[in-house]
Amino acid sequence: MRLALLGCGTVGSEVVRLLHSQSADLAARIGAPLEIAGIAVRRIGRDRGELPVDPAVFTSDPFDLVKRDDVDVVVECVGGIEPARSWLVEALRAGKSVVTANKVLLAEDGGTLHDAAAQGGGDLYYEAAVAGAIPLLRPLRESLHGDRVTQVTGIVNGTTNFILSAMDTTGAGFAEALAEATDLGYAEADPTADVEGFDAAAKAAILASLAFHTRVGAADVHREGITEVTAADVASAKAMGCTIKLLCIAARGTAADGRETVSVRVHPAMIPLTHPLASVGDAFNAVFVEAEAAGQLMFYGPGAGGAPTASAVLGDVVAVSRNRLAGVRAASESAYADLPVRPMGEALTRYHISLDVTDRPGVLAAVAGVFAQHDVSIATVRQGSAGSGVAGRDEDADLVIVTHVAPDAALAATVQALRGLDTVRSVASVLRVEGSA
Ligand code: NDP
Ligand code: HSE
Repeated sequence: MRLALLGCGTVGSEVVRLLHSQSADLAARIGAPLEIAGIAVRRIGRDRGELPVDPAVFTSDPFDLVKRDDVDVVVECVGGIEPARSWLVEALRAGKSVVTANKVLLAEDGGTLHDAAAQGGGDLYYEAAVAGAIPLLRPLRESLHGDRVTQVTGIVNGTTNFILSAMDTTGAGFAEALAEATDLGYAEADPTADVEGFDAAAKAAILASLAFHTRVGAADVHREGITEVTAADVASAKAMGCTIKLLCIAARGTAADGRETVSVRVHPAMIPLTHPLASVGDAFNAVFVEAEAAGQLMFYGPGAGGAPTASAVLGDVVAVSRNRLAGVRAASESAYADLPVRPMGEALTRYHISLDVTDRPGVLAAVAGVFAQHDVSIATVRQGSAGSGVAGRDEDADLVIVTHVAPDAALAATVQALRGLDTVRSVASVLRVEGSA
């Protein structure tokens, strides 16, 4: 079985090491030896340390490599939309099997890849694209196909989890924690993709597509990153017995006209410390899958980094190689349900809102009135007087309000209206709250 490896960076170089160190076992498991036909990179002369591979296999022409007749399987560890899409479409249409870790491409235009695979008759596997080493996509696309998945909730970005965990436990600053995550090989080539939630949104789209048999793209996902989470938010969460995590939530729902829908969102949220996702630290990922018959399933493990991701890549290489030897291919994409995606405004969420207000009689009533006007019910209110003079007479005060569940649009409109009150000096922070206390 001859492999073309595209990319030999954090993930690709670990794929090479595993192919070498496990070669006898891999050959026994597949029923044929795996050989590297070529490795395409951007900079041929780059120092790659001690890599157990003949330097002659390196090329800077990925197109030429994927077209070669002596290549059976293309393994893509480069990333991005183009030129990766063109390489993979070329390979798939020519009947080769593809293993990719490229969640950006799958979330942006997975349909084109699936169509090319169906046309060429090869396999398209992408376990490494979501949650690193954790076996999650195969269970969703195979093991749970007899059940009806209702919700997928998880932490699917290692970099942001590493940053939020560091801010929470060691009080590290945002920039310092991001630099460490980048050094450890967790962050994307452009870490904006991690901290602004694009990476998690791409993964959420892939998970929702598999869970709900519907093509969900990155543009369908409501996305907010963690760049606005402050040390004060982290402290406020702690004071409430909570922690802050970047969550991906994909759920079935029902629209007002009774039609079944899906909603997919990625945003930071406060969750109680008793919530199972609260204890997921460092670059670990964890995903809850809720299905009607199975109940709650939890998948947990290393979500980023070269070796864990290479483990998932190699698992796929073994699977597609076995299929090729047996002359079969895995089931095609399942998108028959084609459910409409519900707008974020209709999602039911809870908000934690911190306000800087003028401490004078009637302020609380005015604030509460805004919530009432928008039909948002307040669950708790906490006030701290920040001033040094006579409390209750035009000093600053902090108001922390947690709501009951309401449509996101009503909550957003409430915050907007609070900003317009002359007694509200500023809306210091707004965070969603997930999980029951
Ligand atoms: P790196 O930036 O470390 O490696 C990218 C590799 O692609 C490099 O070898 C680079 O070549 C090569 N490359 C870039 N552009 C081209 C091009 N135009 N032609 C040929 N080769 C090119 O990325 P990662 O290994 O971190 O990530 C690879 C993929 O895996 C991405 O899709 C990423 O999202 C995904 N992924 C990464 C995880 C991680 O923890 N790092 C986890 C899960 C998925 P050169 O070496 O010469 O620069
Ligand atoms: N940058 C990604 C993360 C890599 O931090 O989770 C794994 O997909």
